Amino acid sequence: MLPHKLIEQRLQQAVTAVVPDADVATVLVRPCPDPKFGDYQTNALMSLAKARKINPRQLASDVVAKLEVGDCCEKVEVAGAGSLNFRLKPAALVEALQSAARGEHLFFALAPQPRTVVVDFSSPNVAKPMHVGHIRSTILGDSLARTLRLLGHQVITDNHLGDWGTQFGMLLVGWKTLLDAASLQADPLAEMERIYKTISAQCDPEKPGFNQATLDRARNELVKLQAGDTENLAIWRDMIRLSQAQFQTIYGRLGVKFDHTLGESFYHPRLKAVVDELMGRGMAAESRGARAILSDGSVPPKEDPFLIHKDGEWIPNPFIIQKSDGGFNYATTDLATLAYRIETWHADEIIYVTDGRQQLHFRQLFAAFRRWHPNSKIKLAHVWFGSILGEDGKPFKTRSGETIRLAELLDEAEERAFQLVSEKSPDLPEAQRREIARAVGISAVKYADLLPNRQSDYVFSWDKLLALNGNTAPYLQYAYARIRSIFRKSNVGQCVPPVPSPKTPTSNYQTQSVQLGAPEELALARQLLNFGLVLEAVAEDYRPNFLCNYLYELAGHFTSFYENCPVLKSEAEQRASRLVLCDLTARVLKQGLDVLGIETLEQM
Ligand code: ARG
Repeated sequence: MLPHKLIEQRLQQAVTAVVPDADVATVLVRPCPDPKFGDYQTNALMSLAKARKINPRQLASDVVAKLEVGDCCEKVEVAGAGSLNFRLKPAALVEALQSAARGEHLFFALAPQPRTVVVDFSSPNVAKPMHVGHIRSTILGDSLARTLRLLGHQVITDNHLGDWGTQFGMLLVGWKTLLDAASLQADPLAEMERIYKTISAQCDPEKPGFNQATLDRARNELVKLQAGDTENLAIWRDMIRLSQAQFQTIYGRLGVKFDHTLGESFYHPRLKAVVDELMGRGMAAESRGARAILSDGSVPPKEDPFLIHKDGEWIPNPFIIQKSDGGFNYATTDLATLAYRIETWHADEIIYVTDGRQQLHFRQLFAAFRRWHPNSKIKLAHVWFGSILGEDGKPFKTRSGETIRLAELLDEAEERAFQLVSEKSPDLPEAQRREIARAVGISAVKYADLLPNRQSDYVFSWDKLLALNGNTAPYLQYAYARIRSIFRKSNVGQCVPPVPSPKTPTSNYQTQSVQLGAPEELALARQLLNFGLVLEAVAEDYRPNFLCNYLYELAGHFTSFYENCPVLKSEAEQRASRLVLCDLTARVLKQGLDVLGIETLEQM
């Protein structure tokens, strides 16, 4: 068992012995923020004491009295207002590394109670090109899905495509009156976007080109589509097929896959029943000709998503589920989608990854759903993110002010990476330089998206994200390739590990004992041991940036180790022990980058 899991288990037993009815699920250990005080820490006793109005230091020392961790830890001390610090005995540290070297684990444990988690991400809209805004959802969602899967949860990914709604009325008018067949063939999304823009400008009473006849026709085409008109349905299917093909090219380049792409239209047949049920049970009401979910006064106004503060008073902020013209909307679809995911997939948790502008929608959706299914235990999370800014600090746009297309951004990333690789390694054959550039360029863009705190806006800078020094994908990919080159040079013959994977023991030096003499060896070993805790924190807070920072620190610890502790030039036993440290670092780097969706290369 991993040391932190063992400590956690014994800690929970000790807490139960002192406070028999405590919910110990929240009694967890975390890495100690300052290694001076230990390897792990728990703050859980303080909240436990607070909730029970007992003295936290007293509780902490009572727990210590019952705690049996002498086999793996030094004497446990109560610190500050009642936290506990744990320092592993060197033998426990060594044993954890040796069992990892034998391929028994890679410093993380599978979740004891796996959950079924639906990750709803990417979800672009049909007939519109994916832009940089969609990249964050795609990349964040993919890395969260990968992390949860690695930890043993059953993950279902669903691309909730925007393939239904009022925009299709306008698109149908455009398709029938403006479509240019050659342009459609050359770049379907660009052509669909063009016809949409032209027609939607004519349908907007605020715009100078407004045309009542076009607006009427768009409404009429939409009604026909919704009523199942054969011609309109065929055009609509074409639009979906063409859009999906282009989205697929991008997902292929990003290495992103979905288990399902149900799309909004899939839920269309269920919407009426949802509204009828909510109306029938008095959970929704008529509101200015529409039907909506309104405040029930059960929470203070500040926390109530169905109220909004305007001109000094709280006024209704309805969650409309049927418009006054009878049409259903985004909200209705999301309610039906949620119910479907619970019924069909038995989801325990659903994660929605979208930009921050949808926060109100999801607060209302979750509150509406709780009212509808008060006994449901499902965990619902809106994982929102900020915008990408240009280097001028304004929303990231092209010089002419257009939104940046994802495909073009990825092309540019590969091209810039190719120039860098060609400067660094001019002797490699061009095909190999192209392949490295592809992996580096795409990864650099992905990593730039994952590294910042997702809720803050970040400035997109080519120079920063492609830098070989600094917290970037190329730096980490290079750190990995450099360790692999040690094995190529080490002449250990059979000992050269195959491509590392957590499941395969990698070498025949695995039985060698690990020695942790130098401070740099100890620091590296401790960092390796924290991998699992970091993965758990990513899954808990939905923040892949924790893992980015962890891997960057790991690469830093490795560098100090490698600069201070000769590996290939040291004596037999020490050499073998240091090669184990190199190998484990490479495996953690590879596994960590893999859950971020970042490729590693054996040579760069
Ligand atoms: N299609 C939406 C958009 O581009 C995102 C959908 C997110 N998922 C959901 N279930 N609402 O904004």
